[in-house]
Amino acid sequence: MNIHDVSRGFFACAFLLQCCGAIAANQPSEIKGDAKSGEQVYARCMACHSLTENRIGPKHCGVVGRRAGAVPGFDYSPAMRRAKIVWSEKTLNQFLADPMKYLPGTAMVFAGVPDPKERADVIAWLKEARPESAACPANAKRRHRG
Ligand code: HEC
Repeated sequence: MNIHDVSRGFFACAFLLQCCGAIAANQPSEIKGDAKSGEQVYARCMACHSLTENRIGPKHCGVVGRRAGAVPGFDYSPAMRRAKIVWSEKTLNQFLADPMKYLPGTAMVFAGVPDPKERADVIAWLKEARPESAACPANAKRRHRG
């Protein structure tokens, strides 16, 4: 049991509540992402990204399970184009912790999401953004707000 990682601050409370209510309690060292909270975290990404359109950064619909640097029509950095990464929970977690350290030369000039819980949340949100999922068209409608 590696509860120490998550036993700080109020996240511990939230985490324990989640544990007690769920059978997933046998994996206390894994932080379970919450897509709803992740949508809030994603607001930071929307300075540059949208789920459905290429902007300063590439669109994110379907990003989980996709090769890095693979969105058609987006002008990636050579570093991203050459990277042999497939975006998964694990690689996104590493990249988003410190993008420029994980992938030197990336054009994503952004400090990342240092908080592990927020990272898990935003990754959960990205996982829901499969091209066929509700998150993508729903976000397309909301995009005009911001
Ligand atoms: C300051 C602008 C900016 C912000 C803020 C930003 N990104 Fe990016 N992002 C980029 C750019 C530019 C790229 C392309 C990087 C390259 O080509 O090296 C990118 C690439 C990515 C990629 C790789 C996509 C692919 O198709 O391979 C992921 C995943 C990603 N960003 C996730 C995020 C998430 C999640 C956030 C918010 C927590 C975020 N980004 C915030 C600019 C940004």
